[in-house]
Amino acid sequence: MKKVFVNGYGSIGSRITSFLRDDPEITVVGVGKYSPDNDVNVAISRGLNVYVPERKLNDFKNFKISGTIESALDYCDLVIDAAPGGHGYKNKKNLYEPKDLMAIYQGGETTMGNEAVSDLLFNSRANYDLAIGKKHAMQGSCNVTGMGRILEPLRDRFAKRLIRFDVTLVRRWADIEQTEKHVPDTIEMTESPHHGDDVKMYFGKDAPLFVRAIKVPTRQMHLHIMDIRFNDKAPTPSEIHDVFKNEFGVATLWTAKGTKDIRDYARTMGFNFTDTNMIHIHANMTVSIGDMVQMMYSDDQTGIVIPENHMLMQAMLFGKSYADAFSHTESIFNMKEKKQKLEEHFARKN
Ligand SMILES: NC(=O)c1ccc[n+]([C@@H]2O[C@H](COP(=O)([O-])OP(=O)(O)OC[C@H]3O[C@@H](n4cnc5c(N)ncnc54)[C@H](OP(=O)(O)O)[C@@H]3O)[C@@H](O)[C@H]2O)c1
Repeated sequence: MKKVFVNGYGSIGSRITSFLRDDPEITVVGVGKYSPDNDVNVAISRGLNVYVPERKLNDFKNFKISGTIESALDYCDLVIDAAPGGHGYKNKKNLYEPKDLMAIYQGGETTMGNEAVSDLLFNSRANYDLAIGKKHAMQGSCNVTGMGRILEPLRDRFAKRLIRFDVTLVRRWADIEQTEKHVPDTIEMTESPHHGDDVKMYFGKDAPLFVRAIKVPTRQMHLHIMDIRFNDKAPTPSEIHDVFKNEFGVATLWTAKGTKDIRDYARTMGFNFTDTNMIHIHANMTVSIGDMVQMMYSDDQTGIVIPENHMLMQAMLFGKSYADAFSHTESIFNMKEKKQKLEEHFARKN
């Protein structure tokens, strides 16, 4: 049994913790909280030990916390950092490295430049084996993970026929449970988005991938609009959809009018946190024109990276083979069943 600490209990940390508690190979030592708010009691009511920074102990005197983050880290084999972007790097320097601790970071960090948390940006479909034996690794962000789920299978199937990918990321403003976050009535442009460079960390630095991004006022997932150019006549939409028939974490849907339809269905079906943990190809939007395929898929922003963290953790903690890690992750996340349910519910009507 390995011991894992989750530092940060927000959108990502709370989800990771919940799934880890279903994993019989893992003991969750506890979670790290930084603000003395109601979420401390929520975590405790869920049976979790809550730890706080030593310097903030006094702020938490009215809560039944279990001790300091600094002390909890002495008793764990690996920490999953789920801090707001940029704080993971500081935690690496101030906490994890001094304690010689294995750590997984989230996509708000970077693998480039002076503040790189690791040289590995993980995507289980692309580079699982590189995580075995790693001490520090970063899980790609939700958009970066989602793009990988489309790009890698396309490259496997069409290889040299592919000559260019142009992607527009339509990003959600906030997560569903981030009720304190205001969603303003504007469409915001993102200058120099990091997502393309991040994908190239595993897809190849010279990959002909061009990404732009905007943010829109919704909490209901991201949508990626992707144009794919071929060096000859492009495949038909059904040839494209065939590529994803047996892909992990990709559902092909025909009748979802929008992203909220999918979230609502996930809620109706009782999926944990109303997450699907996958991307959804909106098959009715796939078009083949001359040398180009146009497609759209939505990306469950909060859910998609959780099974990936679980795969990454198994590579680092246990050195498991891809096949072993995959089947263990599947036993906890039931991705195959979720995909099947989504595809049946949003099936083609004719
Ligand atoms: N949300 C998504 O859809 C999504 C998807 C993929 C990746 N990510 C990435 O996941 C990471 C976490 O994002 P999130 O959306 O979960 O953020 P979030 O909901 O704002 O939660 C952040 C959590 O980190 C805690 N925290 C604050 N300072 C910290 C520190 N110095 N060290 C450790 N934890 C600290 C916060 O504690 P208090 O509340 O107690 O202050 C809070 O529980 C980011 O890198 C983000 O880019 C997010």
